[in-house]
Amino acid sequence: RGLRVSDRGFLNTAVIESSITYIDGDNGILRYRGYPIEQLAAKSSFLECAYLLIYGSLPTRAQLSYFEPEVLNHGVMHADAAGFFRAFRYDAHPMAILTSAFAYLGSYYREANPSLQEYLHEWCKGGPGCTSEHGQADFRLIGKATTLAAMAYRVRQGREFVVPPTGMSYTESFLFQLDHLSHSDAFPTTLTSGGATYRPHPVLVRALDILFILHADHEMNASSTTVLQTGSSLPDPYSAIAAGCASLYGPLHGGANEAVIRMLVSIGSPENVPEFLAAVKRREKVLSGFGHRVYKTSDPRSFIIRKVADEVFAVTGADPLLNTAMALHDAALKDAYFVSRKLAPNVDFWSGLIYRAMGFPMDFFPVLFVVPRVVGWLAHWRQMMLSPEGVKIWRPRQIYVGPSERPYVPLEERQ
Ligand code: CMC
Repeated sequence: RGLRVSDRGFLNTAVIESSITYIDGDNGILRYRGYPIEQLAAKSSFLECAYLLIYGSLPTRAQLSYFEPEVLNHGVMHADAAGFFRAFRYDAHPMAILTSAFAYLGSYYREANPSLQEYLHEWCKGGPGCTSEHGQADFRLIGKATTLAAMAYRVRQGREFVVPPTGMSYTESFLFQLDHLSHSDAFPTTLTSGGATYRPHPVLVRALDILFILHADHEMNASSTTVLQTGSSLPDPYSAIAAGCASLYGPLHGGANEAVIRMLVSIGSPENVPEFLAAVKRREKVLSGFGHRVYKTSDPRSFIIRKVADEVFAVTGADPLLNTAMALHDAALKDAYFVSRKLAPNVDFWSGLIYRAMGFPMDFFPVLFVVPRVVGWLAHWRQMMLSPEGVKIWRPRQIYVGPSERPYVPLEERQ
């Protein structure tokens, strides 16, 4: 009662105060805990950024040498999990598998029962130096994200699962577990986990690490909001992350990287770009990989990704869709329709081309977004759980526009 205006799509609603990620959408600025994304992408590693996002400062050498092995050692999944993954159809979408897998993960931990409230707070307090069994949800979820994603990948190929190797970085270990890159043959190794005998190409490892840094957080996007909305009723973090994963799946959010490639395939070649843009302007099609709720200029991540793309193509060969992508990009940036609406390329416009060149199937692209975003989700969840004011359930209001009171009509009297 008394509510007059709804904020459809939350265009003008701030749901939380946060010190994690800053975006200036008019000037194309993105910072994690104050550090410019360009500097982090050039100099940092994914796990260092994970530490920064979750705990608030760049780790010292000692902190990193505790955090990294904790995360990597938590990558190992219980052998019983193989049965869970094998229950999926051979052609299941990997996002359907991964979303389920995060919720399934919660079933391994007795303390995940939401009625055991005291553990929730203990979990959030975990982190650097934490020896408490309950404080290790961060390590577990980040460590196991790659393992669950690799299992979702391999089960569809009918292949054995790989135990995460030792002695590799987070992203190298992930590529090793996926074991699909023909470009890696030049880097043999003595590692034999899961029968593989290669070492992923270092350029591709670094490229994926940069992509993971760029995708690790992006303040109140749809999936982070979903994690907090879900977390606000105090379920365990595995359930909250599963909810975030489901939200990210959609083509307006993390599924856009897959949608971009489907769009480019449907356009086919540069000469078809004008007709495609005309269809977008008639609102028959969407220009995937363009537009953003916050950025009213180019997404700063898209410039970094464009550079990474060239480094990857130097190893893999350029993607045949690159010319179409460039023609589409250039034409849209000159077109009054897109200019007047301040539509520019976002993070998803180029990333799919990189993933394709690296040999990933299209439907796996959103998974490559989820794995690093687990870090951002955890950072937001932890911030909310530890906030001095405590957690308030996210229960928004509505403006009711349905019928006023009317009497029940028996079935035989209905027209
Ligand atoms: N193609 C064509 N027109 C567009 C597009 C687009 N990609 N994006 C926005 N518009 C138009 C929209 O129709 C509207 O025009 P009008 O005022 O004439 O009705 C105007 O631009 C404003 O757009 P909006 O839909 O009100 O903007 P929004 O903030 O609600 O939506 C968005 C943001 C990202 C969902 C939208 O731009 C979009 O659908 N983009 C394509 C999907 C995409 O690339 N998503 C990835 C986003 S970045 C990474 C992530 O979050 O995962």
